[in-house]
Amino acid sequence: MGSYNKKMLDAAVAFNFDDLIVLPGLAQVEPKDISIGTRFTKNIALGVPFVSSPMDTVTESAMAIALARRGGVGVIHRNCSLEEELNMVRAVKRAESFIIRNVILISRNSTVGEASTIMLENHISGLPVVEAGKLVGILTSRDVRANDPVNRVEQAMTKDVITAHEDVTETEAINLMRSNRIEKLPVVGSDGTFRGLITYKDIITRGKYQHALRDKDGRLVVAAAVSPFDLERAKALSKDADALIVDVAHFHNSAVIAATKKIIKETGREIIIGNLGTKKGVLDSVSALDSVAALRMGIGSGSICITTEVTRAGSPTLFAVSQAADALEELGSDIPIIADGGIKNSGDIALAFVFGASSVMMGQVFAGCEESPSPKTRIEDKYYKVHRGMGSAAARAKRAIVDRYADSGGKNIEEGIEILVPFRGRVDDAVDELVGGLRAAIGYAGATDIREMRNASVALVRTPAHKDGIRLKGNK
Ligand code: IMP
Repeated sequence: MGSYNKKMLDAAVAFNFDDLIVLPGLAQVEPKDISIGTRFTKNIALGVPFVSSPMDTVTESAMAIALARRGGVGVIHRNCSLEEELNMVRAVKRAESFIIRNVILISRNSTVGEASTIMLENHISGLPVVEAGKLVGILTSRDVRANDPVNRVEQAMTKDVITAHEDVTETEAINLMRSNRIEKLPVVGSDGTFRGLITYKDIITRGKYQHALRDKDGRLVVAAAVSPFDLERAKALSKDADALIVDVAHFHNSAVIAATKKIIKETGREIIIGNLGTKKGVLDSVSALDSVAALRMGIGSGSICITTEVTRAGSPTLFAVSQAADALEELGSDIPIIADGGIKNSGDIALAFVFGASSVMMGQVFAGCEESPSPKTRIEDKYYKVHRGMGSAAARAKRAIVDRYADSGGKNIEEGIEILVPFRGRVDDAVDELVGGLRAAIGYAGATDIREMRNASVALVRTPAHKDGIRLKGNK
């Protein structure tokens, strides 16, 4: 053999989704009996293994609500002010709890017109009237319609309010509301202090989503993205969000790790870290931090990502997941791994599980859904939605996200682009499609759940003909 450069000979083979195929194994159960429950973080279990990306064309409250109702989870993006992000998190938390705690209130001295504006802006149909912490009345949209906007709330509100105590059960609450023909039931302490609100609509909605992902108070689970360098935002969000993601393009960075250490210490919430791409990155980060809730793996593979073109740096998602799995094995740790970037369909998801992922984060797949924040546009006879990288010029123009990508000292370097993705209907339909495909994939591999997929074997897809064949059938 001639002489070859060692670094080149030793170069790792960094496979990604289109390079490998899962080999069929002995199936012992029917796909419908395959379990796809998994872990998002150390303490949050998921009914379906899908997470939506913290991107401003993907996850705001509507997406997070829709996903949590199906057993997945949304990560609210951070390309906005703290107040806006907090409001989005709270909207998810308010969506359908049994007792709503973050209730919007009104004072008796406000006008009916002011109350009406608050109701319209927040899509609510009733406001408890509270003075010095005590419930003094309730104002419903019916009262608003029946009164002049200049009237004071005190003149329009119902004063004899039917209330419940905090230990009220769901059945008791329903009976109270039915027998009194009311749709809102304020919850008060024994001294009359206002504690929360139960609504009939929420109880009905909760019944419809039996498999929703809920916290201990029955509220939908939601995560939120934060910059490592914004401790105040992290502290504020940690009161409402169930988990936080320290959201940077390159987590393996001394300053980022040091700042995250502070966030972990001061918030007391589960903190997910990423993005990471290498075994060394995971080893360094996990050993420097007191507690890591999950690892977000993959650099440069996103559908809207041009990091690898601009920098020739990156770690393909599947390879990054395998690197994390190796690192965790060495550490004897079972921190859940989230595969992030470039996932197009259920086949890619199945492959991510083979290499050790517990869940997958998707931007493009969910950007195309009705519940994503970007507007639907029509071109000829087809509908599309915009999906953009958080390092794209358009996203960076909002300024709130600029620190996700390193400041290289010169001109602002773009690491993302804007694309149009075909409109694919509601999140519910996308989840159904992914679940069906995923169950079939797990069945083919001869596994019965996500964890067992780790035992599946893979083969390299070499021939262009074979690859095209798979593409034609599988990819959208
Ligand atoms: P997708 O599912 O292929 O659309 O990839 C989504 C992922 O791409 C996100 O979860 C981020 O990790 C990553 N990402 C978001 N914005 C950018 C960007 O501007 N450049 C590179 N990667 C990005």
